[in-house]
Amino acid sequence: MKIHIKHAFCFSSESYDSSCDIQRIVAEHLAELLPEGSQDRILEIGTGTGIFTKLLNEKCGGAFCVDIADALLAKAKKNFPENHYICGDGECLPVIGEFSLITGSSALQWFQSPQKSIPDMLKCLKNGGKFAFSVFVEGTFVEMSILNQMTGFGSVYTLPDEDVFAKIFEDCGVSVNKEVCEYVLHFDSVSEFLKKQKGTGATFSGRDSLTSKASYKKFLELYPELFGENEKVPVTYRILYISGQK
Ligand SMILES: C[S@@+](CC[C@H](N)C(=O)[O-])C[C@H]1O[C@@H](n2cnc3c(N)ncnc32)[C@H](O)[C@@H]1O
Repeated sequence: MKIHIKHAFCFSSESYDSSCDIQRIVAEHLAELLPEGSQDRILEIGTGTGIFTKLLNEKCGGAFCVDIADALLAKAKKNFPENHYICGDGECLPVIGEFSLITGSSALQWFQSPQKSIPDMLKCLKNGGKFAFSVFVEGTFVEMSILNQMTGFGSVYTLPDEDVFAKIFEDCGVSVNKEVCEYVLHFDSVSEFLKKQKGTGATFSGRDSLTSKASYKKFLELYPELFGENEKVPVTYRILYISGQK
């Protein structure tokens, strides 16, 4: 399954930066939750093209940046050469030693076994070290899930439940602050939203995506009919911000 995720993100390397509207908003908010001042050893998971890395560098300093998608990391490396870039799986960390800060924006929802990999990741945090993550959770694309049931088009990747995800951190014996924010972005048309969504590489749903032209057409028709507001198409995103200290 990870090979599909990696492939979808690598495929988006040319379109990611012009498509990632929600990820930029989320990265800005997560940056506000980072500790003030430079940190001696920082690990970032799911770097992508470096949208959040830029803010992390400005606030806390250079980082070890891990991502499974080498094509995206190559972009980040070009734009922000002060970091160390490692192509690898955040669920099986390709780094040694302890970190004073572990962070990552819009990436942890792609973990396949968070119950195991998050405790493993927090083992790499120094005592007293801080962590801060933003995670897309259930409730994101609520409009698309309803339409998927009605038309068969637009299957949505199963996102984690915010309470279940937060409990994984709480069970690790670290202090945890959590905040859930819902954002509604408005697109000019359903096709514009689908194009942007594809452009970010977040296309892997874990389900068979062979749907007919008829169900796609029905999806395009029904979305504005059921949810349209003032000639715009709303898309809901629900984000868990989770931060704390070991
Ligand atoms: C939506 S992008 C977010 C990128 C960047 N942090 C941002 O805010 O724009 C998610 C990133 O997580 C990476 N990713 C997904 N699963 C991963 C894993 N198991 N280990 C490391 N990176 C992963 C993807 O390759 C992708 O670059």
